[in-house]
Amino acid sequence: MSYIELKQVSYQYPLASEWALNDVTYSFEKGKLYGIIGANRGGKTTLCNLVRGFIPHFYQGELMGQVLIEGKDIREWENHQLSTEIGYIFQNPFSQISGVKETVFEEIALGLENLGVDKDEMIERTIQVVKWLKLEDLIKKNPNNLSGGQRQRVAFASIIVMNHDILVIDEPTSQLDPSSTAEVFEIIHMLKEQKKTILLVEHKVELIAEYADEVLVFEKGQIASYGSPADILSRKDLMERGISIPSVALLGHEMREKNMAMDSIPITKSQALEQILKGGKNDD
Ligand SMILES: Nc1ncnc2c1ncn2[C@@H]1O[C@H](COP(=O)(O)OP(=O)(O)OP(=O)(O)O)[C@@H](O)[C@H]1O
Ligand SMILES: [Mg+2]
Repeated sequence: MSYIELKQVSYQYPLASEWALNDVTYSFEKGKLYGIIGANRGGKTTLCNLVRGFIPHFYQGELMGQVLIEGKDIREWENHQLSTEIGYIFQNPFSQISGVKETVFEEIALGLENLGVDKDEMIERTIQVVKWLKLEDLIKKNPNNLSGGQRQRVAFASIIVMNHDILVIDEPTSQLDPSSTAEVFEIIHMLKEQKKTILLVEHKVELIAEYADEVLVFEKGQIASYGSPADILSRKDLMERGISIPSVALLGHEMREKNMAMDSIPITKSQALEQILKGGKNDD
């Protein structure tokens, strides 16, 4: 049984003239990290809304086909059950902040408070997440007075603290500088090691190349391609469709065009280095 399964799913938002998802079939397995990429308006956030059950529980519109979470149809799941099963980090961090808490610390703890977690445990888990995400300087601030990047990190923390088995993470680094981006990705890496099932929408393909088990390319509401990161992210033709591939993969293609021997197109820096060093040896 697949953990999360989409069977011929089509969905149209209310009053929309086009289908946001159009006949999507895919099985997500437990414990894997799925990198989801694709041009704007391709349907990535809609997929997230669907897996988390916001479609159909919050968004009306027309839903066809079946979405099964642990074998049970999304229509049959209660929203509060889904919220304990699946953590969702929104694309827009401004919509994630509750607005009811006066400090970042309380904001991060809010989900645990709602679950009725015992106070000592709540504090302990919140402190741990604050450390992981290096948010010590922010904990006394008012969540409403944070910058976009700070909000994004707080929103991330407020979900991570809940320790869900399934995480749906929509562009978690869009507002972050390179060093905070690297920190968020270290945490995602750690969650992967903990065998969480992760759907990660992210434009920074270097990071997808490093961590994803499978990559899905969304285009016009459909899965245009899917496969291993090595297969998908080495494809130069994706560039013509507005999807970037890692710069080392482009370098690999250029080297191949100049008739340099390459076993395969690298997608990470370490793979590129390995190929280059090997090439050097062959010339000896
Ligand atoms: N709340 C909404 N109401 C109506 N239409 C919507 C809504 N959200 C998205 N859409 C439409 O659904 C389609 C898919 O959008 P979606 O936001 O899922 O794409 P995306 O791949 O996440 O894009 P981006 O990279 O810009 O975040 C688009 O045509 C979009 O205009
Ligand atoms: Mg989106």
